[in-house]
Amino acid sequence: MTSAPAPSARRGAVRVLVAHAGVHGSTQSIAERLAARLRERGDEVDVLAVDAVADPAGYDAYVVGSAVHDMAWLPPALRFVRANAGLLADGDVWLFTVGMPGALRGPWRTLAGREEGRVVGDLVAQLRPRGHRLFSGVIDPEHLTRAGRAAFRAMGLRYGDHRNWPEVDAWGREIGRALHGRPGPDGPPE
Ligand SMILES: Cc1cc2nc3c(=O)[nH]c(=O)nc-3n(C[C@H](O)[C@H](O)[C@H](O)COP(=O)(O)O)c2cc1C
Repeated sequence: MTSAPAPSARRGAVRVLVAHAGVHGSTQSIAERLAARLRERGDEVDVLAVDAVADPAGYDAYVVGSAVHDMAWLPPALRFVRANAGLLADGDVWLFTVGMPGALRGPWRTLAGREEGRVVGDLVAQLRPRGHRLFSGVIDPEHLTRAGRAAFRAMGLRYGDHRNWPEVDAWGREIGRALHGRPGPDGPPE
């Protein structure tokens, strides 16, 4: 899914909330990286775990991300978007999901791509985000139960750090361009 064209280009700095939910740190690290790209334009960016967001009002734009477990966003992330659905749907919102497509091989990788609709289809219909991305995170054997390890072994899962930083950076810059409606310090859109 790609970002929609900018409905409203903003002048000057904007306030952005990047809210994240994860268990083992990948989602937070991607949230922080997106924030770093947005700050390159001088925007004021708060990066907070969804449970630490005291007052979600007062931001110009929202980037909300969750790790995916068992083909669903984590409960704290779902609670956050449900509690703030009106605010998010009325504003500029982008969503991202952190899973493990990069850790899978062959047909399983294709299936992981299809998983995206199942994981965020309802959220996209409800919030009408300006974009959604599925990123790969880190997956280590100790993150999983014995049954989980057996299931993932059958899928040919490759453990390790599958984060693709150029992909994350590019999306962060894309959000910045969409918010401001003009090229940033990185130059014209690639
Ligand atoms: C119990 C468990 C279930 C998972 N289920 C899925 C899944 O259904 N689909 C997927 O793409 N990734 C799944 N993953 C992989 C995680 O989403 C991935 O490792 C991600 O990087 C975790 O983010 P975090 O480090 O912020 O917790 C699962 C991981 C765990 C530990």
